[in-house]
Amino acid sequence: MSEFHSKIKTIEWQKTPEGGCSVMVDQTKIPHSFEYVEIKTIKEMYDAIKTMIVRGAPAIGIAGAHGCALLALELLEKYREENALEFIKELFEGFEYLNSSRPTAVNLSWAIQKQKEVVEYYKNVPGMTLKKLAENLIENAIKLENEDIEINKKIGDFGAEIIPKGAGILTHCNAGALATVGYGTALGVVRSAFAKDNTIQVFADETRPRGQGAKITTFELVKDGIPVTLLTDGMCSYFMKNKMIDVVVVGADRIAANGDTANKIGTSTVAITAKYYGVPFYVAAPKSTIDLSIKSGDDIVIELRDEEEVTIINGKRICAEGVKVINPSFDVTDNSLIAGIITEEGIFKPEELKEKLQK
Ligand code: MRU
Repeated sequence: MSEFHSKIKTIEWQKTPEGGCSVMVDQTKIPHSFEYVEIKTIKEMYDAIKTMIVRGAPAIGIAGAHGCALLALELLEKYREENALEFIKELFEGFEYLNSSRPTAVNLSWAIQKQKEVVEYYKNVPGMTLKKLAENLIENAIKLENEDIEINKKIGDFGAEIIPKGAGILTHCNAGALATVGYGTALGVVRSAFAKDNTIQVFADETRPRGQGAKITTFELVKDGIPVTLLTDGMCSYFMKNKMIDVVVVGADRIAANGDTANKIGTSTVAITAKYYGVPFYVAAPKSTIDLSIKSGDDIVIELRDEEEVTIINGKRICAEGVKVINPSFDVTDNSLIAGIITEEGIFKPEELKEKLQK
């Protein structure tokens, strides 16, 4: 396997004498070009998340952690030691602002909360300075960044166990190296399975409206030499009926305590179809995507995005003026449709989550 994924990091903190910045792959340019952008302020990070330069729940989480560190660096210019309380107040206000950039993927608020805990802990440590506080936020962001890849490899290895020999694996959206710091969750399972059995193949839904499956999933699988066939959304029934799909593996943006799972719009349609044809449907996600504070999927806030994502393709309007559009970015797959949730601690049935993963 030519391991493209192991040569890149989707998002990485770049240290400089002044503290550093966040460097990320601009995912809006894939597959036409592969470019990195430097993000230097919290406002730039908010915009990068909102406009989906960085996307995918775990990658957004790390972007959030980086954004918190960037704000601390910015505030060092504004405050002196005697104004530490004002520094922390403005820092936490900035954390809230960053958290509002996209509502559904819980990894964002999870990572920001981790950064908040760093501030709460170190602010009372004797000899702490504002500069040291900022350095601690940078170190914690780098730690979360490195852990993400380790976690995804564990998810991949657990998940590979449920992939039958020579399987056709359907996935929806992009839960790959480019949706994480590296390796991927659903595509991490594919990568680990392919390392053991190079006769497996992937079927990737194009994932309208933004086309993450067509643009990003096919890009990274082709680069890694893993066979992939592109489906338009709505083709999965044909492929399942004709026994070309043996298993479905998708990522997740937020999993409720009962296992209901929010993922890219169209995921629940795939799950319902898979149930009909008896194809097992798995979710691959880190524990940071599991939100035990909410009972069910009914409590998950679904992001509504711009209607032009639906009405315009490549700069051209594809429908009549005056048509109504609603553009929910995610849907919730009912726990009854999910065979298992593949995490870094093993594979759990939806009803086991609460008991097994109580933090
Ligand atoms: O809107 P996006 O592209 O951020 O949505 C991404 C997804 O829905 C992914 O499947 C999910 O975040 C899992 S990524 C490992």
